Amino acid sequence: MRMYDLIYKKKYGVKLTKEEIDFIVQGYTCGNIPDYQMSAFLMAVCLKGMDMEETTDLTLSMRDSGETLDLSKIEGLTVDKHSTGGVGDKTSLCLGAMVAACGVPVAKMSGRGLGHTGGTIDKLESITGFSTSISSEKFFELVNKNKMAIMGQTADLAPADKKIYALRDVTATVDCIPLIASSIMSKKLASGADAIVLDVKTGSGAFMKTIEDAVALAEAMVKIGINAGKNTSAVITNMDQPLGFAVGNSLEVIEAIDVLKGKGPSDLIDDCMALGKLMLMSVNAASSDEEAENKLKKTIEDGSALKKFADFVEAQGGDPEFVYNTDKFEKAKFIDPVLSPADGYVSKIITDEIGMCSLILGGGRETKESEIDLSVGLIINKKYGDKVEKGEPLAYIYSNDKEKTAAATERFIKAYSFSDNKPDPVKTVFALVSAEGTRYF
Ligand code: URA
Repeated sequence: MRMYDLIYKKKYGVKLTKEEIDFIVQGYTCGNIPDYQMSAFLMAVCLKGMDMEETTDLTLSMRDSGETLDLSKIEGLTVDKHSTGGVGDKTSLCLGAMVAACGVPVAKMSGRGLGHTGGTIDKLESITGFSTSISSEKFFELVNKNKMAIMGQTADLAPADKKIYALRDVTATVDCIPLIASSIMSKKLASGADAIVLDVKTGSGAFMKTIEDAVALAEAMVKIGINAGKNTSAVITNMDQPLGFAVGNSLEVIEAIDVLKGKGPSDLIDDCMALGKLMLMSVNAASSDEEAENKLKKTIEDGSALKKFADFVEAQGGDPEFVYNTDKFEKAKFIDPVLSPADGYVSKIITDEIGMCSLILGGGRETKESEIDLSVGLIINKKYGDKVEKGEPLAYIYSNDKEKTAAATERFIKAYSFSDNKPDPVKTVFALVSAEGTRYF
């Protein structure tokens, strides 16, 4: 087999066989296929596409390029949740505790943030002592004991994806549904959970800017998961504004804890409920939407989700007192309001720009090696559709450097648009994608 011939085939839109896809993935991972040939191939996929069979073969080949986690040592069916990434998305933190408090094992591998979206591991490290650097053995032991543990992604998980993603990043081949779907699902399948629930974000703070594209990506990922023998489902959720009010590592953990204390923002709760219901039903811990919702609500009302989160923090070396008393989190030195430049209603928020404000303040990474400041970020005061008067705070900026505050303030103001009339209300959850098909709300 020659890479030249396979690039040529894909250039003319010809379907590739499993053997051909394996040849490409294995050859590139071990260094036999050079970057320039792989780049040409990836561009051909972007322009000519891949059908579901090819996309599944590509995913499985990337999954099998490295270590796959065997979760059979965990008692009961496990469920994993993945978000395609957004601003202020702290659902993994609160939802993990809610689902675990329902008795379902949550065995999660998470990553760090890069660019304008935050990572779960960074957020959790704002709790003194907390560590996700645990061995697989310890991870299994903690999930069996507490029903919840989070581990850092190991270097050997889907190494083909790591190498291909780095190449896509510099060859304008990221925004292609078969490539995104196979990239995400190869890592999820290698992580070994029995069921996978996906939160596919759409809007100005997401990869997928339109609901149609988000649904197409979700449908591709759900089909891959099902083809690979996993119960897989997805929700399409709004990322046209930050989720909740908090953006920034420690501020987001505090807001997630607020959800567990029964005082979280409504859009964040709606997102958690939509995902949590799918998580419970996908491992047969509830047989209907209503039963799942009642179970999840009860974990907040009876304090069991909060206790579960505190136990999880303590088991991974963190101080559980942070959960009961959030004043213990390190505070930024300065808190300054961003004042509205206009009267009216908030009609549009360029959400990835809000993520960039947090990055400017030092709360995100420009490169993988960047040090981040866990205490900085923003608390949004006015969201989409809110009435605002000129001079009223749109948000509060938490910072340790006044120059950075000024730069973030300037950028924040440019991200907001105002209208004279109240805009139409917007949904948090747009659609549900499962083996039964796609249902719009
Ligand atoms: N996240 C991934 O892991 N892969 C992609 O291709 C896009 C987002």
